[in-house]
Amino acid sequence: MTIHERTRRTLESNWREGERRGVRYAYTEPSPGRYPWQWYWDSCFAAIAWRRFDTGRSRRELETLLSAAEPDGFIGHTIFWRRPVSRTRYLFYNVTSRGDFMTRTIQPPLIALAWRIAAGDPAEVPAIGRHHDWVERERDLEGDGLLWVLQPDETGLDASPQFDPVWGRRAQGLPLFPLLVRRNRRLGFDIRAVRDAGGPILCGTMTNVLHGLSRLALGRLSITPALVERLWDEPAGLFRDEAWPPVAGHVPVTWAALSPLALPDLPEEIGRRLVEQHLLDPARFRLPVPPPSVAADEESFSRKDTFWGLRRYWRGPTWINAAWLLWTGLVRLGYRELAGEWTERIVAAVEREGLREYYDPYTGRGMGARDFSWSALALELLDEEAAGALPGLLARPGTRTE
Ligand code: GLC
Repeated sequence: MTIHERTRRTLESNWREGERRGVRYAYTEPSPGRYPWQWYWDSCFAAIAWRRFDTGRSRRELETLLSAAEPDGFIGHTIFWRRPVSRTRYLFYNVTSRGDFMTRTIQPPLIALAWRIAAGDPAEVPAIGRHHDWVERERDLEGDGLLWVLQPDETGLDASPQFDPVWGRRAQGLPLFPLLVRRNRRLGFDIRAVRDAGGPILCGTMTNVLHGLSRLALGRLSITPALVERLWDEPAGLFRDEAWPPVAGHVPVTWAALSPLALPDLPEEIGRRLVEQHLLDPARFRLPVPPPSVAADEESFSRKDTFWGLRRYWRGPTWINAAWLLWTGLVRLGYRELAGEWTERIVAAVEREGLREYYDPYTGRGMGARDFSWSALALELLDEEAAGALPGLLARPGTRTE
């Protein structure tokens, strides 16, 4: 089966339609069984992938996300269209009560970007503007344009080792994580309340990259200068999240430290350092099926996803959404050979193993959930033209970038 056929088949079999309290919904399940609800960033990625087969579905997917929005623009991380969370999931899902319609936390706000790529001009859709306004009002805590998150799962990178020094024994996937959820539930998942209670909270690189791309898609002022100003570590040649309270000691380098490569207005010399110093290094990121989610020379890098019986993601295997975002930067900066190598290796793994949640970065073995929708983004890596058009798409006439 070709990768196009495989992808289409998975997206079609994961498509769900129905009605809840008079509201019609239609979305792509991230993976049947394992992830039955609508996850915010999964839906944005699915909408991007759907446009290759059925642009109507791209639009309906994103409209469903928007129809979950509260009047002030808030959209949760997970939306329970079909059934409420179970008793067990309640312990580690960010809801205030079991009957909640969605979680009270966010995922990286990329609906404006997804709309731009898959549906049209997001600036013409008031609900998208309202949602992004909410994100800025509630999460730009210092007025410099950068967003903060209150839990590791808000970044979408759940158990990434970069969060271990920040959340310690309460990090995602560890036995004490439910205590973090319980505490933040008590604080109403309100980031200012969490900060005032001592944190921790995080100004994360990758969340801000996706937020920045959405702002460009909306024709709003770029936050790339603020990101560079605050998070670029010049001596190390990569970006570092900022935690509050600040963390002491080593923070593992993950793909998120390189994610600003996806920003079309990233200063070129910074982009080149990210590629040449890290992505081209066979000891760090240039593995057989790149990019590993964690640099391979980190002590915390692991090819496993289960630790003492606990499932923990983002600790080494390769994820296709990360591959796509970084790859757009390779194309933009003209690293044709490396970009071609990524396409070949990643597409071969997806073709052979099917759409899995993530892949072993050495062998390409499929791991985690099966029939995983956003791995359909592998198709993007076959379309250099679309990647090449992205900067133009995000720089509409009238866009202010300074
Ligand atoms: C995992 C991922 C998260 C994703 C969710 C649904 O929790 O870490 O990013 O949104 O699965 O696929």
